[in-house]
Amino acid sequence: MNTDVVTEYGHAVTKVGLSVLELLSESLGLSSDHLRDMDCAENLNAVCQYYPPCPEPYLTWGTKRHTDPGFLTVLLQDGMGGLQVLVDGKTWVDVPPVPGAFIMNIGDLLQLVSNDQFRSVEHRVLANKSKDTARVSVASFFNTNIERSTRLYGPITDGHNPPIYRSVTAREFIATFNRIGLDGRSLDHYRLDRDTPTPAVEGCE
Ligand code: OGA
Ligand code: NI
Repeated sequence: MNTDVVTEYGHAVTKVGLSVLELLSESLGLSSDHLRDMDCAENLNAVCQYYPPCPEPYLTWGTKRHTDPGFLTVLLQDGMGGLQVLVDGKTWVDVPPVPGAFIMNIGDLLQLVSNDQFRSVEHRVLANKSKDTARVSVASFFNTNIERSTRLYGPITDGHNPPIYRSVTAREFIATFNRIGLDGRSLDHYRLDRDTPTPAVEGCE
């Protein structure tokens, strides 16, 4: 892939991500630069995904159900379709492609710091039913720098609502996500009303 295009896309999508974080900060009643200043978009990881036509699409998934673990994902999908979100915990709803539009996914860490005011939506991608055309998407994941950051992320509360989650470093959170895989919900491990405390992830505490 042309590296100039990737670099240019990275700069452009970062502007979009930062603008959305400003709006999200304001809607939490915070100053517009609050989430940015918490390093929620310090690091961008852009993943180009290629879904080849699948001869038996009913036997598998394009991407299994999951939530994105970071703060914010800006997703660009082509015209093929196949992305679905889970509504009310039980109904899968298609997210039809809209030319020129991005999909914004709240990530688990943003749900945690917003104390559930924003929700990270469960989503999945159906296997590509087309006979001859691949599906391509570009997911831009915004997070802090998980290698270097030692910052503890905890719920921002206004004093009225008690915190739902304990504080965690992004590094530990991502390690938990990687350990339990796409089948579990890593966020639940940090709920304060959870019966058993989360076991420490090796190398992270
Ligand atoms: C992801 C994801 C969806 C897609 O990479 O986390 O959900 O449309 N991708 O490829
Ligand atoms: Ni995702």
